[in-house]
Amino acid sequence: MAAPALEAVDVTRSYQLDGVRVDALRGVSLTIESGDYAAVVGPSGSGKSTLMHLLGGLDRPTTGVLRVGGRDIASLSEDELAQVRNATIGFVFQSFQLLGRTSAVDNVAMPLVYRGVRRAERRRRAGEALERVGMGHRLDHRPAQLSGGEQQRVAIARALVGDPQVLLADEPTGNLDTRTGEEVMALLEELNRNQGVAVVIVTHDLDVAARAHRQIRVRDGRLEPTPAPTPTPDPTSPAKQHPGRPTERHLAGEVVGRGGACS
Ligand SMILES: Nc1ncnc2c1ncn2[C@@H]1O[C@H](COP(=O)(O)OP(=O)(O)OP(=O)(O)O)[C@@H](O)[C@H]1O
Ligand SMILES: [Mg+2]
Repeated sequence: MAAPALEAVDVTRSYQLDGVRVDALRGVSLTIESGDYAAVVGPSGSGKSTLMHLLGGLDRPTTGVLRVGGRDIASLSEDELAQVRNATIGFVFQSFQLLGRTSAVDNVAMPLVYRGVRRAERRRRAGEALERVGMGHRLDHRPAQLSGGEQQRVAIARALVGDPQVLLADEPTGNLDTRTGEEVMALLEELNRNQGVAVVIVTHDLDVAARAHRQIRVRDGRLEPTPAPTPTPDPTSPAKQHPGRPTERHLAGEVVGRGGACS
């Protein structure tokens, strides 16, 4: 069987800030299979972005094992890790992170530069990726000449241009209005459904999270257990049923986040 696309085994990540240690992740184990569609939810500061950076090989765990396509990233040099990342993973961030003075097509082509693809081929593939996100008519616009939703679509095209197995999106709709956010979500879901790209999305929006196939809940640097399915009452023995309390607790425990507000 193929290795999972991404695998974290008991990873921690601590930051040192002015001599004080911040334990952003305190032991997280998680597997992302190819074709997965998972939402990462949890309060601000709980460690969601830290987890995404680790999953994407943008950062290395303090302890624990992180595997990308079955390879332990601890065994890779910085250059090798950059190559694995470039070939496997696409990132989409809340703030788009496009190069301001660079056209849409050249922004999208950027990951291919690091793969040694020639310029004409880069531009062809970047144009195709922009077509896929409905931005084929804006190849030569710079980010400032595009709307927020258009910039995010360019960022998605950049994430896709290398045919990644996994798309990691950290609040990709956080800076967009509801309708534009909806378009971006529809695009991510289409990629997941039709092209089998695994999608992991961080969101504060519980409606967005509910659309994913599963929810990963982060709190204080740990994963919360996924709530058990609501037990089906046994009609033959009503006397044995407790009066519904465990279920109530499960449901109450399910609500995580900042009351649906977008940051
Ligand atoms: N570079 C850093 N140096 C020191 N501490 C950091 C650094 N990055 C994050 N932290 C701390 O680690 C914790 C987790 O941060 P992280 O960005 O992962 O949270 P988050 O869940 O993404 O929050 P939000 O929903 O606000 O984006 C926070 O307490 C944060 O202050
Ligand atoms: Mg964050």
